[in-house]
Amino acid sequence: MHVVETIEDLRAWRNSIAGTLGLVPTMGYLHAGHLALVRRAREGNDCVAVTIFVNPRQFGPSEDLASYPRDTARDLLLLDEAGVDLVFVPSVAEMFPPDFATTVDVGSLAERLEGASRPGHFRGVATVVARLLNLFRPTRAYFGQKDAQQVAVVCRMAADLALSVEIIAVPTVRDIDGLALSSRNVYLSAEERAAARALARGLRRALSLFEAGERDADSLRQIVRDELGVERLIRIDYVSVADGVSLDELVQVDRPATLSIAAWVGRTRLIDNVALEV
Ligand code: PAJ
Repeated sequence: MHVVETIEDLRAWRNSIAGTLGLVPTMGYLHAGHLALVRRAREGNDCVAVTIFVNPRQFGPSEDLASYPRDTARDLLLLDEAGVDLVFVPSVAEMFPPDFATTVDVGSLAERLEGASRPGHFRGVATVVARLLNLFRPTRAYFGQKDAQQVAVVCRMAADLALSVEIIAVPTVRDIDGLALSSRNVYLSAEERAAARALARGLRRALSLFEAGERDADSLRQIVRDELGVERLIRIDYVSVADGVSLDELVQVDRPATLSIAAWVGRTRLIDNVALEV
């Protein structure tokens, strides 16, 4: 497995390979969710590249950039075992040199939900992902459904900028009790970890109601709110039932939709979602 830190070395590798390339962008501190993306990329392409870059541009000033968990040595072992061909581990200066001036703004799609709670977040995501897609020119790039709005934003950007890449969304990998795997789960105390189960529980309850025929979006939102309300350690940021592509909030679920949650568990902000398929 090649490990490269500079764009120059990355370009040399890119020019040396043949066939299809699958790219998996990450911020490291890898877990089974990231590795599911890598596995999909491995199955579907001749070569697989993974990037590890904690992107400062997608963190707000009061967010957890400084404390974001990192363990590159362990990440590299996991990626080697997973059969990855190349890992790109750039410095901040390599990705964003001092004279870097362009930002990618995906518009209203990026301003709601996560974008409303985290202003500028998706500008940071879209800018770094655009740069990575241009550097790698992959055949396919893999993103987790766990960050459903990120998938929507990246798909919009790839279409608008006419990038010749196929964006593949991979289902959310969960812990045995349903909690979606996230690098941020390490922040949770034992008590918070127990309370966090309410997110997946709420989504599951709403999904079974939906599957039993409930189409009223407010009723589905309320089920989730009730479930989260049981836990005193949880503070809801939003509960949304929105069109799966435009992310417009729905009154009736009469088209493919996403039911998504953002909630604080103690000082840790977690997100999760399920697809509502009509
Ligand atoms: P990061 O949070 O490290 O996640 C990297 C990829 O793994 C994302 O596509 C994310 O959706 C996916 N992922 C995370 N948890 C998952 C889970 N439980 N199941 C399935 N997939 C999961 O998302 C980012 O980094 C950044 O925003 C990035 C795209 C790298 C741009 O900086």
